[in-house]
This record gives sequence, structure tokens and C-alpha cells, in this order.
Amino acid sequence: MSDFITVAAVDDIEPGYAIVVEVDGRGIALARLADGSFRAIDDLCTHDGGPLGEGEVIDGRIECPRHGAHFDLTTGRAVTLPAVVGVKAYEVRVEGDSVQVRFGD
Ligand code: FES
Repeated sequence: MSDFITVAAVDDIEPGYAIVVEVDGRGIALARLADGSFRAIDDLCTHDGGPLGEGEVIDGRIECPRHGAHFDLTTGRAVTLPAVVGVKAYEVRVEGDSVQVRFGD
């Protein structure tokens, strides 16, 4: 069972930036790429718990603000040290003015 849940409005995020949204107590880093598309990954860096949604969006990646590891925003893969383990990535869609993230299996 899985569902798309509205987490933000399209206009809440400028291209090239990210925000943090909370769904059922889970922090999600919601990013908008330069092309205007959206990506969602867990907000918790696997290195030492840094808030990924407060990081800088760089070419489809986000940089952890704590020690600088990069994560791929589409796959959640840890791209650079010091993180070696990836984070969960979520499917995202836009419905009208709403940005929706798919939770569940
Ligand atoms: S907590 Fe993210 S790189 Fe260290």
C-alpha cells in the first residue's frame, strides 16, 4: 500500500533550493532542481545526522551542511565522503499546484 501525499506547493521552492517537510514525524528534504523538477530524500544524513534539506543543491545533488557529503537527489546514493551509505529517495509528482511524495512500499 502506498500513497502520494501533498507536502508542499510548487511555489514554495525556487529552482536550485531545498526545504524540509515533515510527514508523520519523518523529515523529508524536498529539493527543486534547476530545471524546475522536484526530488525528495530523507532529511537525515547517514554520516552523522546532518539536516540534508538545509544543504545546497548542486547539479542534481545536495551537499550535507554538516561535513559536506554529497547525495544524489534522484537515487539517494552517497556520492562523496564522508558519507558512504545512501538515504531513501522517494517518488515525486506534481498535481496542479501541489508537490506530492509517494510513501509506503
Ligand atoms: S553529517 Fe552529513 S556529512 Fe557529516
